[in-house]
Amino acid sequence: MSYADIEKQYAFEVYPKRDITLVRGEGATVWDDTGKSYIDCTAGVGVASVGHANPQVARAISEQAETLITCAGIFYNDVRARLLEKLVTIAPADLTRAFLCNSGTESMEAAIKFARHASGKSEFVCAMRGFHGRTMGALSATFKYRDKFEPLLPGFSFVPFNNIDKLRGAVGDATAAVVLEPVQGEGGVRPADPEYMSAVQALCAERDVLLIVDEIQTGLCRTGSMFASEHFDLSPDILCLAKALGGGVPMGAVLTSERITPVVGMHGSTFGGNPLACAAALATIDYMQEHKLGDHAREMGDYFADQFRAKQPARVRELRQIGLMIGIELKEKATPYLMALMEEGVLALSAGPTVIRLLPPLTISRDELDTVISKLLKVLAT
Ligand SMILES: Cc1ncc(COP(=O)(O)O)c(C=O)c1O
Repeated sequence: MSYADIEKQYAFEVYPKRDITLVRGEGATVWDDTGKSYIDCTAGVGVASVGHANPQVARAISEQAETLITCAGIFYNDVRARLLEKLVTIAPADLTRAFLCNSGTESMEAAIKFARHASGKSEFVCAMRGFHGRTMGALSATFKYRDKFEPLLPGFSFVPFNNIDKLRGAVGDATAAVVLEPVQGEGGVRPADPEYMSAVQALCAERDVLLIVDEIQTGLCRTGSMFASEHFDLSPDILCLAKALGGGVPMGAVLTSERITPVVGMHGSTFGGNPLACAAALATIDYMQEHKLGDHAREMGDYFADQFRAKQPARVRELRQIGLMIGIELKEKATPYLMALMEEGVLALSAGPTVIRLLPPLTISRDELDTVISKLLKVLAT
C-alpha cells in the first residue's frame, strides 16, 4: 500500500486532500515520495517561516531534546524563561507577560478566558469572515464552520470587518472584548484599513473594552514587521500567536497587558511552555532577527506584487498583499488553478472559494518568487 492509501484507510480524515505525499523539505522547497520538488507557498499554512529544516532551529531542537525535553509549568525552566523574556521584548509596548500553549486555537481559548476573567463580562464582538480556530471557544469567535456545532459559547456577535459604525453599534455594557485579525487570513487575505484600526483602538479605550488581536497568522515577520499590529500602531490588551512561533514545532502564546491579571489556577496546559518548543521558538525568533526576515518579507512581497500586477491576468479580480501574506482573488473558483499549480511544482493555499493564498517561507529568494510568478501566470492564462 502507498502512504496515501495507508492514510486513506486509517486517518479520521477531515481535510480535503491533495494527492501527493510530502517527505522532505529544505528552505522554501519540499519533495514528494517520487522525488518531485515543489516551491512551497503553503509553508504548513504559514508555519515554516524560517524555512523547512532550518539548521539553526533543527540544532536547537536536537540539543534541547538531549538536555531536558519536558518541564511542567509548576517548575521554573531556563529556556522557557529566556523565551518569555524574548517574547515580551519584541512584543508591542504594553504587552508585559506571556502564557505559553501549543496551537492557535488554544491561544484563542486562553484569550477568551483571560478577557472574561479580567473584565467580569462575557460578550465578545468579532468580525464577519474572521477565523480564530476550531475548538469550541475559538469557534464561537469564528464566523464560518460553526453551524453544525451550535450551541457554541453564548455572547458572541459578528459585525462587518472595516466598518467602525457597525462595531460601535455592537459594543455594549456587557462587552468584554473586541476580537480581530489585523489581516483576515482564512477569510480571504483582507487587511484592515488603518483608519478602522485606529478607530477600533479608540473605541475600546472609550468604552473600557479589551482589544484581542489575533496575530496567529500575521505574527512574526509575515507581514513585513515582527507584528502586523505595528503597521496600525495598535496596543492590544491581548495578542494571540502560534503558527510560525515554534519554527514548525507546535506552539502558541498569549501576550497580555497589565490589565490582565494572572491568577494561579485560572488556566494551564501540560505541554504549554515545554523546553523543546521553547528552544525551537527561541531559535526561530533569533533567526528572524539575525536575518531581518521582516524586511525580507516586505521586499519580496512588494517585488511579487509589482511583478504580478504588471502582467495581471484577466481572470484575476484583485491582488491583496502585505509582506509575504498574499491573496489573489479570482473571478472564478480557485481550486482548479491550485491543482494546476501543483502540477507545475508550486504549492499554494486557498482562502475561501475564489482566493489563491500564498504564505511562502519568509526565506524565499527572488529567483524562487520569479518561478512562482511565471507558473502563476502560466496557469492563470490557460
Ligand atoms: C488567524 C488565525 N487564528 C487562529 C487559527 C487557528 O490556529 P490553529 O490551527 O493552530 O489552531 C488560525 C489558523 O489558521 C488562524 O489563521
